[in-house]
Amino acid sequence: MPQPHLLITGASGFLGSWLCEAAQPQWQVTGLYKRQPGSDTTVNWVQANLCELEQLALITHLNPQAVIHLAAISNTPYCEAHPDETAKLNMDMPIALAQTCTHHKIPLIFTSSDLVFDGDNSPYKENAPVNPQTVYGKQKAQAEAGVLAAWPEAIVARMPLMFAIGDSDSPKTAPNNFMTRLLEALKAGEPLSLFDDEIRNPLSAKVAAQGLLFALDLAINQRHRGLLHLGGPQAVSRYQLGVMLAEAQGYDPSHLQACSQDDVTFTMHRPKNVCTDCTLAHSLGFTPPSLAQQLAQH
Ligand SMILES: NC(=O)c1ccc[n+]([C@@H]2O[C@H](COP(=O)([O-])OP(=O)(O)OC[C@H]3O[C@@H](n4cnc5c(N)ncnc54)[C@H](OP(=O)(O)O)[C@@H]3O)[C@@H](O)[C@H]2O)c1
Repeated sequence: MPQPHLLITGASGFLGSWLCEAAQPQWQVTGLYKRQPGSDTTVNWVQANLCELEQLALITHLNPQAVIHLAAISNTPYCEAHPDETAKLNMDMPIALAQTCTHHKIPLIFTSSDLVFDGDNSPYKENAPVNPQTVYGKQKAQAEAGVLAAWPEAIVARMPLMFAIGDSDSPKTAPNNFMTRLLEALKAGEPLSLFDDEIRNPLSAKVAAQGLLFALDLAINQRHRGLLHLGGPQAVSRYQLGVMLAEAQGYDPSHLQACSQDDVTFTMHRPKNVCTDCTLAHSLGFTPPSLAQQLAQH
């Protein structure tokens, strides 16, 4: 029997690279990219600028049996400085894509973010009111609502801070990712100050990719629709995460120093605690390994 066909947008990015790997061989994967295809030669790479809504004709042409939509501009300062430009990809495209998927009855997973929350009332359940404080968070919140209005059978997966550990020049480790910079500092034995009052429930990109495929399975089998929190199992501060990473990877954590958000003046809002309550995903069967296990696995 031929493999079913999965279309992944943003397949060349950080999470996309892990998702392409995890989805095969169960799925035959077509990966959309804008600038440069990913390195996975088993993926059918197709170039498309998803800021242009007419590119949606591709969906009909490619005729996938499922879509996971990752493509986004998630650099929050860039979104703050370029709200109109980034709204095309972060907001208009997911909604238009959901309309196309409705038309063809294609299961759709859209990746949103814990930054739809303000950070003052965690842990957040799926039905907690959103209150985004950044342009990026507002775009994601509007996209979520638009996607689910257009295609109620879609799943909007709210992702946490994600990490991967490895060479900084690999797309699978995201060069500007917090963990990549942290690991480089640990390797070099450089002092590094990390917030002890900024709390997240992080997830490795490898496990996050498994979570998205799990969500796709739920959508296909009509076991869930709507919002789904795919956060990690443990709430930690960035400082605690740094110490845990050092211990898991055999580096000296004594160069890491705890500091407070209050010690720094920010140009944009930085939520203190956007941890999501993932009871729903757990009850449906998504049970990620402990954070310590995820940090040691790489
Ligand atoms: N990373 C995290 O910690 C995190 C946390 C919460 C939610 N998320 C969400 O998870 C998803 C994946 O994030 P990520 O970290 O993997 O992002 P990423 O590494 O920045 O990758 C973004 C992807 O989008 C593509 N893209 C950008 N502009 C495009 C355009 N105009 N047309 C078509 N494709 C375009 C990029 O393609 P090219 O590289 O070829 O330009 C790339 O494949 C996003 O929706 C993000 O908002 C991420």
